[in-house]
Parts: sequence; structure tokens; C-alpha cells
Amino acid sequence: MVFSSKKLSVAASLFTLALADPWPKRGLAANDDVPISQFSGSWNGHGSQVNWQYNWDSTTNQKQSWAEFIPMLWGTQSYHTTQWFDNAWYWINNGGSGHLLAFNEPEQGGQANLSPGDAANAWRQYMEPFYGHAQLGAPAVSNDGYNWISQFLQACSGCHIDFIPIHWYNDWTLENDFENWVNSICSLGGGRQVWITEFQAGGTIDQQSTFLRSAIPFLDNNPCVYRYSYFGTADNSKVLLQNGGPALSPLGVQYTFSPYGSGNGPN
Ligand code: BGC
Repeated sequence: MVFSSKKLSVAASLFTLALADPWPKRGLAANDDVPISQFSGSWNGHGSQVNWQYNWDSTTNQKQSWAEFIPMLWGTQSYHTTQWFDNAWYWINNGGSGHLLAFNEPEQGGQANLSPGDAANAWRQYMEPFYGHAQLGAPAVSNDGYNWISQFLQACSGCHIDFIPIHWYNDWTLENDFENWVNSICSLGGGRQVWITEFQAGGTIDQQSTFLRSAIPFLDNNPCVYRYSYFGTADNSKVLLQNGGPALSPLGVQYTFSPYGSGNGPN
């Protein structure tokens, strides 16, 4: 077989890409009043792995220069929907955002609280218009939401859903359950990326640290997982911060500066 020099150079650059450092997957789920300015830079010579942020809302007043802000349409209440198009277009066109998140925990009465059918209609109305302009996320179910998200994907057939965000909360001893949950959504998604936009292990800080030592390598090494954000920069849990911040707690340092593929901290 004869290769043209152009084909050879394309093949060579693909080869270089494959060998380059993988793109970091870690992010922050951070309410706007929780300071996140110190999740950048380096520690013991290891650079921050955090490169994206969201705040459960469609705009923010604490966009970090080193992070992609991801607007979210939390639910279908008019408070959220009336500002959605202006905010999402603003962040896509002027703010460097390339992804959008949809309804938060729609299977839960106290959260976005939508049936799969109603969510599919709302997704077509509010998310589909951005097809071709940003990568689009399905609604984010928690780990009680397998049936809900299966039904949603059927109801929204033909929707241009690029990725499936999920949440997980369970005991720190159940890291295996976390892996099974992520893998089950990877299978369900039929090749779509999976993001874990909230997850937290129940337990002491030391027990959460042990959990992350296993969970981070699993997530970094799983090609189906595109992004994840540990729950710990939110109004109701600031475990990644020291006394509310802005300094990072030891757990925050472990999460931010463990090298790609390791959860052991920047040692
Ligand atoms: C809620 C958000 C809230 C966040 C942090 C989420 O589960 O849906 O409204 O800001 O938790 O507490």
C-alpha cells in the first residue's frame, strides 16, 4: 500500500495526540458564594487537574480564568427558563462554554421533579436549539434514577444528547457500587460520554479520602467518563475547603493535585 505524505503526517500527528497527556476530567460543583479561586496552580510540582466548574445555575459571578463554566437549566420553573436562552447563548458565544447541563435530579420530588415524558418535551424546547453550538447533557439523575433515565432516553429519541450526567451518594465502603453505577450508565448510554456531576462518599474525612484513592483512578482510567466533580464546594458541604475557604482542605488538595490516574495526593 502507498501512503501519501499528507496521510503520513496526519497519521503521525494522531499518534502524537494519542501519546500526549490526557485531558483532565476534574471539576467543581460550586455555589457562587463558595470560594474556588485556589483550585488552580500547582502543589509539590503537580499541576491542578481542575478545569471546569458549574453552580446549578445558568450564569455565575465567579467564573475562573482556568475553568470552563457550564451553564445548567436546573428545572422548568419560570425563574430558570426565562433567563435560560440569554444566559446560555452568552456563555457559549462570549464565555468560552462548550457544554450545557439540563434538569437536576428530575426523579426527585424535592429537586427538578419531572416525569421522563415531560422532561423530554422540555429538553426539546430548551436544549435542542443549542445542537451544533455546544455539547448537550441529559438530565442528571441520582443513583436511584436508572429507570427514570432509561425512560427519558426512549422518550427523547431523536434528541441530540451528547452526554449523560449522573450523581452518586452512598457509604464510603461501597466504592464498588459507585463503579457499578457508572458502568451501568456507560452501557445504557450506547457510546455517549458519562459525567458524574455530584458524588460523595458518606463517612469521615479520612474515609472519604480512602474512597477517593480508589474512585479517582477508576474515573480517570475509564474512557467512558469524560468529567466528574466531587461534592464538596457547595453551600451544604464544603469538605474540599479549609474552614469554608478559600484555602483548600487536605481532601481538597488530594482531589485537585493528585496526578491524572492517581487518587493518592501530590506526593
Ligand atoms: C441542588 C442545588 C444546590 C446544590 C448545592 C443541588 O442538589 O439541586 O440547588 O445549590 O445541591 O447544595
